[in-house]
Amino acid sequence: MKPRELRPGVYAVGAVDWDRRVFDSLIPLPDGTSYNSYLVQGADKTALIDTVDPKFTSVLMDRLSGVDRIDYVIVQHVEQDHSGSLPVVLGRFPDAQVLCSARAVDLLSTHLHVSGDIVRAVEDGEELALGGKTLRFVYTPWVHWPETMSTFLVEDSVLFTADMFGSHLATSDLIGGEEELYPAAKRYFAEIMMPFRSMLRKDLDKVEPLGAELIAPSHGPVYGHPQFIFDAYRDWLDGPPHNLVVVPFVTMHGSTLAMVDRLTGALVDRGVKVERLDLQGVDLGRLATALVDAATVVAATPTVMTHPHPLMVSALYLANELKPKVRFLSAMVTYGWATSAIEHITDLTSGLKVELIEPVMVKGLPTAEELEKVDALADVIAGKHAEVGLT
Ligand code: FEO
Repeated sequence: MKPRELRPGVYAVGAVDWDRRVFDSLIPLPDGTSYNSYLVQGADKTALIDTVDPKFTSVLMDRLSGVDRIDYVIVQHVEQDHSGSLPVVLGRFPDAQVLCSARAVDLLSTHLHVSGDIVRAVEDGEELALGGKTLRFVYTPWVHWPETMSTFLVEDSVLFTADMFGSHLATSDLIGGEEELYPAAKRYFAEIMMPFRSMLRKDLDKVEPLGAELIAPSHGPVYGHPQFIFDAYRDWLDGPPHNLVVVPFVTMHGSTLAMVDRLTGALVDRGVKVERLDLQGVDLGRLATALVDAATVVAATPTVMTHPHPLMVSALYLANELKPKVRFLSAMVTYGWATSAIEHITDLTSGLKVELIEPVMVKGLPTAEELEKVDALADVIAGKHAEVGLT
C-alpha cells in the first residue's frame, strides 16, 4: 500500500495487522489492529512520528522507499509495537535524530538499545520547526507507560496521541466512522487505559484545549471529529456507572449456574440490567469493557480446594488491576467443605473502592431456601442502585 495523505505533506505510512488475534499474550484482538506511523514533510525538514511493530518493518520501509531523508524520528511511546522498527529506520536514515520525552531516554536504551548522541529529550511544550510545519510536543504521561507524549502539528491541527484514544481495529479506512470506532475505542480504553484514570483526566485537560481538527492515535483509524472521542473518554472516566450488574461466573456441576440463573431473573424483575460472562472461554476484553459501566460485580464461583475457581481468580485479578469505577461487590460461592473462597475473593479485589454486599454461600446444590437468598441479594443490589440514583 502506498503512503496515504492525511493532510498536505502529512502521510500515514504505518501497517494494518489484519490477522493478529492476541496482544501481549493476553488481550484478544477480534478485529485485528494497526501500528500507525506518520510522515510529516516540511519545507526544510522531515519527521517520522513513531514506527511500527517489528513484524511489519518491511511494510514501513516499503512505504518510506520514496523518502530521501528523515531528519527526526519522534518516539512518542517506547513500547515495541511502535518503536520496534526504530533500529531499522535509523539504519536507513543514519543522520536522523531521535526525539522523545525525558523519561523515554532510558527506556529506549534498555528496551531497544538505542542511546547516545542521536537521542534527545524534548521539553514539554517545545516546538520544532520543519519549515511551514511546526511540531509541538505535549507530555501526556501514563497512557499507559510513564514516558508517553503527544505531538501537535500546529498548522494542520493534527494531534498525534500515541496509544491514547487508540483502538484495536484493522480497517481500510484512514479516518474512522464513529459507529464503528466507539465500541473498539471503548474496549481499548477498558483494556489499556482504565487503570490510569487519574492521569488520563490531566492529559485530557491538556490536549482538549488544543482544538485539534484531527486526532491520529497509534492504533486504529484517525478521528475526524475529536469531540466525539473526548466526550466518550470523559464519560468512561467520570460518568456515573450504569444500572448494571456484571456477573462473571464459573460452573462445574451446575450449582453456581443455578444461582446465576436465579440472580439474573431476579435482577431483571427489579429493573436492573445484567451482563453475564461465563469465564470458560470468555473474551477478557468483554469483561474489561463491561466493567467500564458496571455499578455492581457479583462473582459467582465454585470452590476448588480452598480457593475460587482459577478462572475466577484470574478474572478478579484482572478486574482489580483495571480499577473500574464499580461501586458494589458481592459473590455467590458454592463449596463442598471449605468456606474460605470468599476471603480470597475479598483479598483479590482489595484494590477496588467498593462497598461489599453480603455474599450468598451454598454447600452443594442450592435448595429452594438458598435460592431465596439469591432473591434477597437482588433486593439489596436493586436497593443500593436506587440509593445512588441508578434506575
Ligand atoms: Fe500500542 Fe503501549 O503500545
